Amino acid sequence: MASTSATPAAPVASPTEPILEVTGLVKHYPLTRGVVFRKQVGAVKAVDGVDFTLSRGETLGIVGESGCGKSTVAKMLVNLEKPTAGRIRYKGEDVTKLSGRALRAVRRNIQMVFQDPYTSLNPRMTVGDIIGEPYEIHPEVAPKGDRRKKVQDLLDVVGLNPEYINRYPHQFSGGQRQRIGIARGLALRPEVIVADEPVSALDVSVQAQVINLMANLQSEFDLSYIFIAHDLSIVRHISDRVAVMYLGRIVETGRDAEIYEHPTHPYTQALLSAVPVPDPEAREHRERIILSGDVPSPTNIPSGCRFRTRCWKAQDRCALEVPALAVPAEFRHTGGPAAHDSACHFAEEKQVVPPEEPREDHGNERA
Ligand SMILES: Nc1ncnc2c1ncn2[C@@H]1O[C@H](COP(=O)(O)OP(=O)(O)OP(=O)(O)O)[C@@H](O)[C@H]1O
Ligand code: SF4
Ligand SMILES: [Mg+2]
Repeated sequence: MASTSATPAAPVASPTEPILEVTGLVKHYPLTRGVVFRKQVGAVKAVDGVDFTLSRGETLGIVGESGCGKSTVAKMLVNLEKPTAGRIRYKGEDVTKLSGRALRAVRRNIQMVFQDPYTSLNPRMTVGDIIGEPYEIHPEVAPKGDRRKKVQDLLDVVGLNPEYINRYPHQFSGGQRQRIGIARGLALRPEVIVADEPVSALDVSVQAQVINLMANLQSEFDLSYIFIAHDLSIVRHISDRVAVMYLGRIVETGRDAEIYEHPTHPYTQALLSAVPVPDPEAREHRERIILSGDVPSPTNIPSGCRFRTRCWKAQDRCALEVPALAVPAEFRHTGGPAAHDSACHFAEEKQVVPPEEPREDHGNERA
């Protein structure tokens, strides 16, 4: 599936440079009142200062409860939303400052896969037209005569029969539809895929197949992934690193084992305590942390630590000082897996789920 490109070449990154570098990312939606003279009376702070990097070939899992700003981050990464502030650097270049052909070239390289395969595919278009639609905007990737062959190759790559090219979305199962969404995401041969809850709408058994497919495609096409989910157990097997979001910010981030086996932020510990544990004995002995209260409104974020209204460890300092996302002082000298970024004044290591046994591969069966 080599592509011939006439668009401006995308920037070239050095092997050590992150492919994506996000700094101080903010999205505030203004809240207005009045019909004639619209007056801003506040803001929905959907994303409120997010920083992360993504290396080439890496998967960063972003996890958090509904409404914490995951999709808003995703939309800004693929330019569906303009940031209120902050920078998104793709191979060193700030994409929020680009326009015209240069922006188009970058957009081609960062593609999105959406959550709901039932609503994200146009029911009146054939699968061939859905997957090939990006070629209408980027005809240089596949001249008209080559498109059918390219789409059939993509169907094959995602484990669907290439002869299904003239079928309609309703003729496929949920898992197959998500494979179609992934094929469409791959059509322009991007370098980065932002997958916004790609398996949340699917049955558990199908989730594993789609995750395995994505893992296989990652090595085949040298892809870097941002993989969004609301459940920590979903991102575990595909993520190299995980970022946990709460109310518009990342509260803890680290390598997979650091987050799952050595979490230091109370919010991550609470999320982990809800993750299903397969071993019945381990399940019986683990502590379930039930958070009190609801997530505060993003229009009215608590002072100091934004998690303090639900945190069982909160003290006076938590209302006064915003905890920085950094390696907590108590772990800076000890090193080890607890020494990762955690935005808590009283960070403490706590093992909530037992270390995982190696898992059976569910395989990437042809659908
Ligand atoms: N266009 C908009 N205008 C105003 N508020 C918005 C808009 N889009 C999102 N929001 C609000 O921003 C916050 C973050 O929304 P977002 O969709 O990013 O959350 P999410 O983490 O993806 O949630 P979910 O898990 O439910 O998909 C929510 O409070 C949401 O209501
Ligand atoms: S800073 Fe305070 S309120 Fe925030 S997570 Fe830590 S202990 Fe809880
Ligand atoms: Mg979302």
